[in-house]
Amino acid sequence: MQSGQAKPLLRALAGEALSLPPWWLMRQAGRYLPEYRQVRAKASDFVELCLTPALAADLTLQPIRRYGMDGAILFSDILMLPYALGQKLAFHEGEGPILERIENTTEVARLDSGRISSSLDAVFETARRVKGALDPRTALIGFAGAPWTVATYMVEGGRSRDFRRVKSWAYRDPHGFDALIDLLAEGTIEYLAGQIEAGADLVQLFDSWAGVLPEPAFERWVIGPTRRIVTGLRQRFANCPVIGFPRGAGVLHERYLRETGVDGIGIDTAVPPGYAHQNLQLYGTVQGNLDPVMLIAGGTALEEAVRRLRRALGKGPYIFNLGHGVLPETPPENVQALARLMAEATDP
Ligand code: CP3
Repeated sequence: MQSGQAKPLLRALAGEALSLPPWWLMRQAGRYLPEYRQVRAKASDFVELCLTPALAADLTLQPIRRYGMDGAILFSDILMLPYALGQKLAFHEGEGPILERIENTTEVARLDSGRISSSLDAVFETARRVKGALDPRTALIGFAGAPWTVATYMVEGGRSRDFRRVKSWAYRDPHGFDALIDLLAEGTIEYLAGQIEAGADLVQLFDSWAGVLPEPAFERWVIGPTRRIVTGLRQRFANCPVIGFPRGAGVLHERYLRETGVDGIGIDTAVPPGYAHQNLQLYGTVQGNLDPVMLIAGGTALEEAVRRLRRALGKGPYIFNLGHGVLPETPPENVQALARLMAEATDP
């Protein structure tokens, strides 16, 4: 299929199997880069960093300058949406995010969806700046958390081991919980629309905790809201591809891909590439799924894993990525080695 597109990432998302698959890495801007740690030290907290366009634009471009990935992912966070809705949010060193917990529909009603665009205008400004600085081959990737994953942080008040609070609310009072998911789905459409208007060429929905739900709940709170977001965006932007990343979805990946209408699907490290080729690549572009720890290991283990993945998935529409984000312990020189491998054609 020829899409007449110069950006390899968009060609892959239009269904082309490229001999050199495009690549980028989830969490490609982050603490593994010394220049990230330097900029990070300038901001008093992480939310402020996300809301300072000069710094956030610089962070977005840092990995591109070093490694020349095919996509630059906007520097922000999935928790900026709850922040814009009025929920208190803080990041403490080593602890991850801390949010004021939302526990019932009364508290959902207190969230203010009228201020999303104005509160997040700085993120859109970052997108405009990055867009102006990127060469025409590099795609700007916008993103948001998917409603289920964002809801887990909002209800648990941060990271969770067993999702006891959010699941008990959802199972006990599904209609009440729908109110939170609906608010998040609409807010996500608005947040992503702002990023697309500011120059994002494609967007990714991170559903990092999709894999903890049983099938009926997965249908209701993962597939349903994702489909709603994809449909809402498509009505406004005919040509902006969406990648969904339902981490841990296992055998439900296929239903997710077919029923949500996403153009591409991110697969986590546990999905066998052969399975993804046979069951997913017929319906959309597959993205993934190198183990992030391979980027710590480096050497021949890394080379072999990369070649194996490209052999398994390179014959169909494919975007090379990790199965989850870059880890802070990753040696930058291993990402350099990966960049060299990505520029080499693999033998069939
Ligand atoms: O990919 C990129 O380079 C773009 C920026 C980006 C960040 N977070 C920056 C960030 C993206 C795409 C995210 C997504 C995100 N954020 C997810 C989905 C992906 C995943 O990892 O499952 C989730 C669940 C979050 C929520 C979040 N933000 C957590 C749990 C944490 C703390 C853990 C950690 O890695 O520090 C964050 C903070 C965060 N978001 C950092 C960065 C660079 C680290 C902040 C710091 O420097 O202290």
